[in-house]
Amino acid sequence: MKTTSIIVAIADNNAIGNKNELLWHIPDDLKRFKKLTSGHQVLMGKRTWESLPIKPLPNRENIVLTDIPGEIIKACTMAYSIEDALSKMNDNKECFIMGGGMIYRQFLDKADKLYITHVHKSFEADTFFPEINYKDWELIEEEKHQREGNLDFSFTYATYVRKK
Ligand SMILES: NC(=O)c1ccc[n+]([C@@H]2O[C@H](COP(=O)([O-])OP(=O)(O)OC[C@H]3O[C@@H](n4cnc5c(N)ncnc54)[C@H](OP(=O)(O)O)[C@@H]3O)[C@@H](O)[C@H]2O)c1
Repeated sequence: MKTTSIIVAIADNNAIGNKNELLWHIPDDLKRFKKLTSGHQVLMGKRTWESLPIKPLPNRENIVLTDIPGEIIKACTMAYSIEDALSKMNDNKECFIMGGGMIYRQFLDKADKLYITHVHKSFEADTFFPEINYKDWELIEEEKHQREGNLDFSFTYATYVRKK
């Protein structure tokens, strides 16, 4: 079955990024991201692509959305509209929508599953995740993490599926 999954780390105030960078460095979350998404397609907006320290993300088909007609980025699958992106997502596989803000806003209604890292702190930011109506979602997994290493916040991995 084709599954459209959003994967995101969200602060208490819905912040997800600032100046085209992430707001935190959570090594365990990066490992989890790699483990969940490896071998799958990942879909991202052009700004998130530009923000990646290593690109393309290895062992994953990187799909990049841009409004610039005909733009090609080497080693990526390009998509020029949401419909085009949807048509490039494999049937019978999970595709991970990995941001950023513009892309999450356009895909939240289309997603079947949410992998959220809830970061238990508020941050100053210029990019936010849209409001989630949790009545539409069932929590199926939750894993709480206390402050670790240099982090001054705790965080929780939560997985939700859309209620039928
Ligand atoms: N916390 C997290 O988990 C997380 C995850 C990912 C990203 N982020 C953060 O999010 C921020 C970036 O988000 P953002 O909202 O600024 O940008 P974005 O969503 O990454 O990319 C926006 C770009 O995608 C393209 N695009 C968007 N909608 C499109 C459509 N319908 N059709 C064709 N192209 C489309 C456009 O590219 P063109 O300009 O080329 O037309 C647009 O400028 C960064 O701070 C990043 O660190 C956070």
